Amino acid sequence: MSLRDLDSLYIAPTYKRFPVALVRGEGSLVWDEDGKEYIDLGTGIAVNTFGYSDAVWAEAVTSQLHTLQHTSNLYTSGPCALLAERLCTLTGMKKVFFSNSGAEANECAIKAARKWAAEHNGPEYSTIVTLKNSFHGRTLTTLAATGQDHFHELFQPLTPGFVHVAAGDVGELEKAFAENKVAGILIECVQGEGGVMPLDPDYALQVERIARRENALLMVDEVQTGNGRTGELYAYMGYGLHPDVVSTAKGLAGGLPLGATLLGERAEYVFGYGDHGSTFGGNPVCCAAALSVLGRLDGPLLAGVRAKSEWIREALAGVPGVKGVSGLGLMLGIATEKPAGEIAARCLEKGVLVLTAKDKVRLLPALNIPDELLHRAVGILKDVIAE
Ligand SMILES: Cc1ncc(COP(=O)(O)O)c(C=O)c1O
Repeated sequence: MSLRDLDSLYIAPTYKRFPVALVRGEGSLVWDEDGKEYIDLGTGIAVNTFGYSDAVWAEAVTSQLHTLQHTSNLYTSGPCALLAERLCTLTGMKKVFFSNSGAEANECAIKAARKWAAEHNGPEYSTIVTLKNSFHGRTLTTLAATGQDHFHELFQPLTPGFVHVAAGDVGELEKAFAENKVAGILIECVQGEGGVMPLDPDYALQVERIARRENALLMVDEVQTGNGRTGELYAYMGYGLHPDVVSTAKGLAGGLPLGATLLGERAEYVFGYGDHGSTFGGNPVCCAAALSVLGRLDGPLLAGVRAKSEWIREALAGVPGVKGVSGLGLMLGIATEKPAGEIAARCLEKGVLVLTAKDKVRLLPALNIPDELLHRAVGILKDVIAE
């Protein structure tokens, strides 16, 4: 039986897969089981920060694998402590809780906000405000946080205590604070799954101002936008925000499962013994991978992300069939006249992997994709859009 037959027989069909089985990758190139080559502009949805099987990353991972693959969180582990220090030094945050995914990083953020607000404002301050069209994960609580009704329908009752407001509407946000006892507000600087929609910078600053005034925590979900993706180390830095809690995952460990919830000064001491935990959270191999990734996200690399982004925008400007390009850095959404799904399918046939988000074609290439491959892939994408 082929891999794809096994997949459809034995794997719960929750994913609408593209009709290929990928078996091997190198940088921004990947091959399927028939040996067909693709240029990858998706990085496993913003995960493979430096592409497939990057040599520096693989060396960091394998060296840690041969040293110590796991220890429980009852002991100190070197990579975990070093990574927490690196994250705090880079961001000014004070403490880190490690988990395994974006949803878990957000669960931890929500727990932090509820406990912090209960202790500082009273136990009735439990409401979490999030934005309409947001995406925060698939657990029942992060689904409740996600401001898109269609994700909620089949899974009632969700965790109570979430209110969704329209991004950009300060009046609606003020109303949410007036009508609820709010613990915190959770935002994405660019709504990725919501169609690559950047938050208006003035609105983002208003959110921070109102959260401060109301003594609520400002939480930024950097699961998709984080770790260099938008051309800043974390997108909130470009927005000039000072979040109390930052969640991240996806690209942090460059292809291994790792989530991190960063706690700033106000929330530094929110958790005590027994308040939270995760068996695999802070796994030494994943942390060694993340140390390697973060070590390379320096000024020139981030400048390269911004330059590649600019190049893509220029290359797509005025192309027949392109209605507009949204996003930041190498997190871009292309509004097209033809359905995005059709474009993704046609690109696949022509050897380019792209993603979709809502009605847009979504690009999330490796941060170090060689220009030659990027230019070739965007050339094919342009032809497909204009076909
Ligand atoms: C902004 C955001 N938050 C949370 C998540 C959930 O992350 P995970 O799939 O690792 O649980 C995602 C995934 O797409 C995301 O884009």
